[in-house]
Amino acid sequence: MVSSHVVYAAVPISVIVALGLIRKWRSRSWAKCTSNTCLRGKTFLITGANSGIGYETAKTLIRRKARVIFACRDITKAKEAIAEIRKEQPSGGELIPMQLDLSSFESIENFVEVVKAGFHKIDVLINNAGVYVPLKDDAKTKDGFELHMGVNHLGHFYLTNLLIDHLRRATPSRIVIVSSTLHEQGKLNFDDLNLRNEIELAKKGKVKGRHNPGYSNSKLMNVYFMRSLASQLRGTGIDVNACCPGFCSTNLFRNALRWYHYILMAPVLLMFMRSAQQGSETVLFCATDYSIEGKTGKFYRDCAEYNSKYLFDKTEETKLWEVSEQMIKARKPL
Ligand SMILES: NC(=O)c1ccc[n+]([C@@H]2O[C@H](COP(=O)([O-])OP(=O)(O)OC[C@H]3O[C@@H](n4cnc5c(N)ncnc54)[C@H](OP(=O)(O)O)[C@@H]3O)[C@@H](O)[C@H]2O)c1
Repeated sequence: MVSSHVVYAAVPISVIVALGLIRKWRSRSWAKCTSNTCLRGKTFLITGANSGIGYETAKTLIRRKARVIFACRDITKAKEAIAEIRKEQPSGGELIPMQLDLSSFESIENFVEVVKAGFHKIDVLINNAGVYVPLKDDAKTKDGFELHMGVNHLGHFYLTNLLIDHLRRATPSRIVIVSSTLHEQGKLNFDDLNLRNEIELAKKGKVKGRHNPGYSNSKLMNVYFMRSLASQLRGTGIDVNACCPGFCSTNLFRNALRWYHYILMAPVLLMFMRSAQQGSETVLFCATDYSIEGKTGKFYRDCAEYNSKYLFDKTEETKLWEVSEQMIKARKPL
């Protein structure tokens, strides 16, 4: 007769094995970047390279011998991330820690000055850094903009425009904007881009729907920025594309999710949540795969072109560009 101890042990072990198999089966549909060329001599600049998808992207680029600038809000975290990668990969590539706070126009300008003094060209700019905070926190950038718009969109908008000449010197070069398919839930109200109304409602606990409009809107702005810039730069040798890494286990939701959310959502997470490394595959594809050289203005997911469900509008696109420029010039919310 089988002892009760064996049964007690067998049940959880079987459940764990079954869950592992389900996850393995599920992850077969998550594409991998197959490009493996040597990237010696190429300079990549990644914002937010100390954590999550940016960190995993940097790690692979280093393995492929690239030079990677870690543009990070916290220079200590940048150095720690570099030390961690160096422990695993003592040789290959070059890792450069630099301080960049995308929530401050002054920090962006200082950063660009240092980049221009130290590097002749940038081959690939990866706008990866991002924030996700509860709307009720009413978080703002140093210049007073709603945090998601300020960091995820405005900071990268300004940084990219300041670095265009450096990308021109490296043509064929690339700009990769890490967005999300959540952009499809975005809705731009040009009378209230800083979301004052929705933030006040959130503070009173009267939020409609589950999604965070600050985050979704900023990811929509990412895609509009990509589309505008791609058409402006068409024919110059600088390709501009955006991508969604998929739903990944990173630090992004640290301010929004508690430990019990992870337990409650465990089955969903198991089926849909990728590791940061799995999430980095599409970013790497957009940044390095030769099959898409010369393709610009596209959105990628799972290493393939993705047709957004959002109905893009040229007037909205132009207006966002103009308003972004005005906000940077004014250095305060309009
Ligand atoms: N994770 C997902 O499920 C998912 C899904 C779709 C799209 N994305 C996108 O993927 C990108 C990477 O996010 P992740 O998931 O890897 O999250 P993460 O682990 O939290 O990494 C985000 C990075 O952005 C940096 N950052 C935040 N604010 C910054 C600022 N003001 N200046 C400079 N850097 C700043 C963070 O620095 P600190 O470490 O100092 O905070 C961190 O290095 C984001 O654009 C996100 O929107 C993620």
